[in-house]
Amino acid sequence: MSFKNSGHSHKNADPLDTNIELNQLKKENDLLKEKNKALQNQLEQLTKEQIIYLQNVSHQLVAPLNAIKWHIENLTAGRIHNLDRIKTVLRSIYSQATISVHLAKNFALMSNLEADQTLSAQREPLELVNLHLLMVNLANDFQPLGWGKKVHISVTDDPLEKAPPVLAIKNLISQVFSNIIDNAIKYSAEETDVEIYGRHNPGDDTVLVYIASKGIPLPSTEIERIFNRGYRSEQAKNANPPGTGFGMYIAKKIIDIHEGNITAFTGEHGSSVFEVTLSVKGLTGKAIQRAAKDNIDHR
Ligand SMILES: Nc1ncnc2c1ncn2[C@@H]1O[C@H](COP(=O)(O)OP(=O)(O)O)[C@@H](O)[C@H]1O
Ligand SMILES: [Mg+2]
Repeated sequence: MSFKNSGHSHKNADPLDTNIELNQLKKENDLLKEKNKALQNQLEQLTKEQIIYLQNVSHQLVAPLNAIKWHIENLTAGRIHNLDRIKTVLRSIYSQATISVHLAKNFALMSNLEADQTLSAQREPLELVNLHLLMVNLANDFQPLGWGKKVHISVTDDPLEKAPPVLAIKNLISQVFSNIIDNAIKYSAEETDVEIYGRHNPGDDTVLVYIASKGIPLPSTEIERIFNRGYRSEQAKNANPPGTGFGMYIAKKIIDIHEGNITAFTGEHGSSVFEVTLSVKGLTGKAIQRAAKDNIDHR
């Protein structure tokens, strides 16, 4: 490249100025290098976390699938004759399948929610969800997981049954409560009850749902940490070694999308209580926007 006709002259450039400029450039360059290094470290950390998560999820998925396979092998080979024993095996197949589906759903949600956390980005429509009915159905689905420990899930109908439905993405909200109930059973002591109850708060037109369990305590300091990605308390790790520490993180993300609230606290007799608050009509405007957007998209 020639500077002949550039019109610029370097004849009068002060060497001092050039030095200062050079020094400044060097400083900027060093700063950029540092930033680059920090970003690289962050990326490495994220990749490590992702690999651990993947290993963890696949490990947890393989265990119930192997159990199902083993039970079916026993049944088809005619090794089990007693009718009661056959029933027990079928129940176990059912609960192992519930665990697999639950984990697979969390796995899929993780990638979706990380990619985009806005309500409008979620492809499923908002609909009116009867939280009492949802709790009864989930209690039925998850009850078999508690059989081994003699943990019973109960839903107190009144006053939750009378609460109005909330506007929500049903599959996502269902996953929130699945994750809470799954934990409640996992971390419960033997022969205890998981209690689900709730009510409508007419003051701010919200429905509150509570899930209380008795077993390992919630971490006493910084309870909020349980909603952090990958966090598991030492007691949780000891009580139930397989776990991802993603369940409550996913639950909080979903509740945030719905502009609701999720908290955990230690209740009576040291029980672990999770409180979920969802607005009855809070997302009405967004539902209308979504419907309008979907109509345009479909044309
Ligand atoms: N019902 C509960 N009782 C006591 N501790 C709980 C309960 N639910 C959640 N926790 C705490 O919150 C942590 C995070 O939960 P979660 O994200 O579902 O991860 P994971 O179940 O894989 O450990 C748990 O490891 C545990 O320390
Ligand atoms: Mg969990």
